Formats: sequence, C-alpha cells, structure tokens
Amino acid sequence: MLVLSPCVCDDVDALSGIDWENFGFGLRPTDFMYIIKCKRGGEWGKGELQPFGNLEISPAAAVLNYGQGLFEGLKAYRTADDSILLFRPEENAMRLNAGADRMSMPSLPVDTFLHAVKQAVLANRRWIPPPGKGSLYIRPLLIGSGGVLGLAPAPEFTFVIYVSPVGCYFKGGLAPIDLKVESFYHRAAPGGTGGVKTIGNYAPVLKTQLTAKGKGYSDVLYLDAVENKYVEEVSSCNIFMVKDNVISTPELKGTILPGVTRKSIIELAHSRGYEVLERPVDVEELLVADEVFCTGTAVVVNPVGSITYESRRVKYNNGEVGKVAQELYEALTSIQMGHAEDKMGWIVQLN
Ligand code: COI
Repeated sequence: MLVLSPCVCDDVDALSGIDWENFGFGLRPTDFMYIIKCKRGGEWGKGELQPFGNLEISPAAAVLNYGQGLFEGLKAYRTADDSILLFRPEENAMRLNAGADRMSMPSLPVDTFLHAVKQAVLANRRWIPPPGKGSLYIRPLLIGSGGVLGLAPAPEFTFVIYVSPVGCYFKGGLAPIDLKVESFYHRAAPGGTGGVKTIGNYAPVLKTQLTAKGKGYSDVLYLDAVENKYVEEVSSCNIFMVKDNVISTPELKGTILPGVTRKSIIELAHSRGYEVLERPVDVEELLVADEVFCTGTAVVVNPVGSITYESRRVKYNNGEVGKVAQELYEALTSIQMGHAEDKMGWIVQLN
C-alpha cells in the first residue's frame, strides 16, 4: 500500500482562473484521501494517505446493503499569511462517535480523527481557495465496508476523508433563499436516526427537494412527524427565527441534527447579548417572524427570503439580508477566516 507524507507542494495556481463568485458547492477531485480500517471488535489500524480515487468495496458491504454509514462535514480556510484554519474539528469527531454508537459502528478516538483531518488537509493544501474566496470542504466518512448477508454490523469498517474546494452552497451566494414547508413527507421520527449524521437521512429528502426546486424554491423545510406542525430542519441545514430581537431555534430532541454551526451561532449570539431559546417552534410562528435564517457547515449562515406553507407565502426583509443574520454571519466567518480574535477557542491552526 502506498504511504505518502503530506505533499509540501502549495501550487495555488491549481485554482487560478476559477470564477469564485459562481464557484458553488460541488465535487472537485483533489490529490489525496486519508484511510483507516478497523475489524469488528478490533482496534483501528494505521491511517495512510492514498491518491484520491475509487474505493474497492464488496457488493455485500453493509454500507451498500443496509446503509451502515455516517458522514461529517467541516471546512479549512486559508488566511492572508497562508495559515490554514480548521473550525471546531473536535465537535465533528464527537458527533461522529455519537452516530457510530447509534449505527453500531466502532468509535474513532478524537485524536485519530483530528490527525486524519490534518493529514488530509495538508496533503491537499494547494486546493484550499485563496483567502476570502471559499474553503476546503472536508468530508469524513465512516462506513461498514465489510460484506454481510444477514442483517448484522459489518465485519470491517473504513474511515475515509476526502476534500473538495467549495464556494457558496446556495445559488446566488448569500442571497436570501426561498423555502417550501413540506407537510406530507417527514425527515425523521422520534426514536429514529434524525439526530445523527447517517447517510440514510439524506437520500429520502431528494424527492421533495427536487420537486421544490422544480417549482423555483431553493430547498425544503421539514415539520415534526408527530404533530406535523413544529419546525425541524431544512434538508441540509438547521433553522433559526428572530422575533422582537429574541432568537429561537428548534430544540434537539433526537430528530434534528446537532449542527456544529447551529451550536456556534447559539454561543455567539449569547456572547453578543441576544436571548436565544431552544424550544419547539410552531410553523405559524415562522410566518410572523421578523427574520429567518439557516445554519450549517456547507451553508454557513444563509438568510431566508421567503417561506411558503400550504397556500401562504411570507417574505422577510424585502429580499434583503436580515440584520441579525448579517451580524452573526460576519461574527462567525470572521473567526473562521482568521479576521477576528478567536475568543471562543474554536480555531485549530494547522501550520
Ligand atoms: C454540511 O453542512 O456539512 C452537510 O453535511 C450538509 C450536506 C448535505 C451538504
């Protein structure tokens, strides 16, 4: 097996000529991926960098047959002095392990996760966009890679990290998005897996997302599966509302992903003197909110321009970015990009 030390090459020209304003969030293959394996009941082996490429996997792999898989998402930023910054990577490690427990997979020591992230980023450092132009999205996967036929945990697990340079998640950059409330399909049910980042939570939202996009919406907002009236989350991000300067977001109760950006925005808002409530949010409240915005690693903080619920469409802030979303976006991204002092201790600098 090929074992490589992180590439020292920092040929930023690899990214020259890219139209960053329209770069978007898509897969652009880079140089290396990082892989570690573990037998069921055993210890994790030695991780290694390999050239980015296809994984060889049994057609009987538990991830392919039974969806035994988790993923994570975090970002690396390049600063003006060419440092590389990671944002709260240990939070991703801990969330992955919570998911591993739910999905009957082995947990990965936090240090091993952090080492793997650092190796993957440093080996692909030439793909980190220039300062202010985007980020390197880091995608860790934990999958049941060994073959099984009867329903059981895989005999072997693989942890792999690949990366891709990315720009803004939604078309139009930070422009406010238009959400459609889905009141027939649900994303998660109590006792299910909505609170962990398992791969199976994501394919089911494609049908509603594609339908909504076909009608001109940016994405779909899900309601709770029991009463069909409390807001849960958008397909790929958490949601917040602001009313009379009080910020509210649906509480974590097992059906909502505990977003790292969600947690950071709550902490940042508190530190800036806002009252922040984690509580059940009735969809009707959203329709009379002053501001609504989404948070996520991929989307960062994205304002919501309109919400359509059944036959009602409500617009916010006349299509402008709301004041609170703007303030929190700037506060968060200036820490992530190294423009502001990291008073929260969130940043891990790689070099
Ligand atoms: C992220 O924000 O990192 C996510 O995992 C969302 C994904 C569906 C792009």
